[in-house]
Amino acid sequence: MDSSGPEKREHWGSKLGFILAAAGSAVGLGNIWKFPYITYENGGGAFVLLYLVCILCVGFPIMIAEFVLGKVSEKDAVGTFGVFRPDKKIFKFIGIIGVFTGFIILSYYSVVAGWTLEYTLKSLTCNEFIVEKVDYNSPELKKAIFNKHGVYDAAAKADILKNAGFTDDKTEENWKAFLDSNDTAHAAARLSIFDEVIQKAKTDLGEQKFEESALMISRQQKASEVFTNHLAKGTPMLLWHAVFMLLTGLIVFGGISGGIEKASRILMPLLFLLLGGLMIYSLTLSGGTEAIKFLFNADFAKLNRHSILEALGHAFFTLSLGMGAMITYGSYLKKEDGVVSSAITVSILDTLIALMACLTLYPILFTFNTEVSGGAGLLFITLPALLANTIGGSIILSIFFVLVAFAALSSTISLLEVVVTYTDDEFGWKRHTSTIVNSFVIFLVGVPSALCFGGNKFFTELTLLSKGDTKLNWFDSFDYLASNWLLPIGGLLIALFIGWMIKDQAKTNQIKEELGSGFYPVWNFLIKFVAPICVAVVIANKIGLIE
Ligand code: PHE
Repeated sequence: MDSSGPEKREHWGSKLGFILAAAGSAVGLGNIWKFPYITYENGGGAFVLLYLVCILCVGFPIMIAEFVLGKVSEKDAVGTFGVFRPDKKIFKFIGIIGVFTGFIILSYYSVVAGWTLEYTLKSLTCNEFIVEKVDYNSPELKKAIFNKHGVYDAAAKADILKNAGFTDDKTEENWKAFLDSNDTAHAAARLSIFDEVIQKAKTDLGEQKFEESALMISRQQKASEVFTNHLAKGTPMLLWHAVFMLLTGLIVFGGISGGIEKASRILMPLLFLLLGGLMIYSLTLSGGTEAIKFLFNADFAKLNRHSILEALGHAFFTLSLGMGAMITYGSYLKKEDGVVSSAITVSILDTLIALMACLTLYPILFTFNTEVSGGAGLLFITLPALLANTIGGSIILSIFFVLVAFAALSSTISLLEVVVTYTDDEFGWKRHTSTIVNSFVIFLVGVPSALCFGGNKFFTELTLLSKGDTKLNWFDSFDYLASNWLLPIGGLLIALFIGWMIKDQAKTNQIKEELGSGFYPVWNFLIKFVAPICVAVVIANKIGLIE
């Protein structure tokens, strides 16, 4: 029996509420952490353009598809496929992959979101990050200075290696072994090379610049140490993960208009204000102009094949597409609320926030002239290292982590809502039971993600998947599986389904009516051909079918 007929279904209180909630789902760690990082890695402006093309040609039509599937069917991410194709139950499988994906993403996303809470507290005092004096005798510092300033070509490397007693000519392998601090046999030779580079850097840069550079390196090392220690603490990691799941559960518990919409109405404007404020502050720093140039100057030489894959993959993640989050949110829309204008607003807001995050982070990076270290490094290492040691930096840093936590929370509620709506609609559970049970199970699934960075020996050593030659721990396996495979595959299947599989003319007419007769053909072309072909090419490329 169907216990959730249209007349009983909850609705968003207003269209604005819906837009804020959907934008809240889209805006998350993807915008503030991942986008600035991958854009930085891919050389700035040209990547931004590429990304915009992906949003426009693939993300935007799929978002409309998801909204429309939800709105017309008034069903969860699985049930919707049954409404459009009651004759073929197999299509429900697309939704099941989606719910499963939501489940996994939330389990590790909540762990990172938990870090932002702890980092908010750490930032209030900033004690742990402060380095005032450089310890020039520290071998790690010497190595870091060497890595930054010691530039050798292959011939020079071969020369050094020969002097240090290496006999064969496998230069790169030997070079790595030589620089490894476990290689005690060449410790003296190594240190003398380090010292040589340090002397050279001193002369090249001048005493003052060199000291500044060394201080910056020490601060990064300190912040990196703090981060490693933070990750390795089992109980606090679990606790913060639990706290974040609890917050998420509490909001979802309140329902669509009373919980999610209410929270989004507070979180989103605050997030926008805080980020706007920080961005203005950042742009006044000396690195501001360089940041703007970097972000808006398109240098296509910096792009490669890999950039395209990355841009398209990220378009899915950042718009929360391919797993039914937007189907679920769409299913609570009122008849009169249009999907196209909502999708336009959500895509623009999401992109705007991603660009604002870049304009907040890059000026800081350029002002201090530092490199970004790794993915998580940007938020949890580089930023504290740079800001904690400046006047007022502690306030800026705390605000920053609060805003990241807000962004994450408005995304985790949408992930949980996918699962909750599913168990409500398909199994007739009550919202309260669904929320409690699902939050708890997802918390449990996330436990290994919280403990696999040193918190627990077993989970730290456990590897599930591998990416190329690298074995991935639980957390990275889940992230890799979800964002590289499940979301694009889900998105492809959703596009193919709505583009090709709906045979019922009445349903097609309903979709047409939702989109308007002028826009429908454009969307239809994008969803039938452009989006699936782009995604299929990316997936084929990943599998190695095409080079
Ligand atoms: N869009 C969110 C972000 O950018 C992540 C997310 C993916 C949320 C899928 C919901 C569904 O961080």
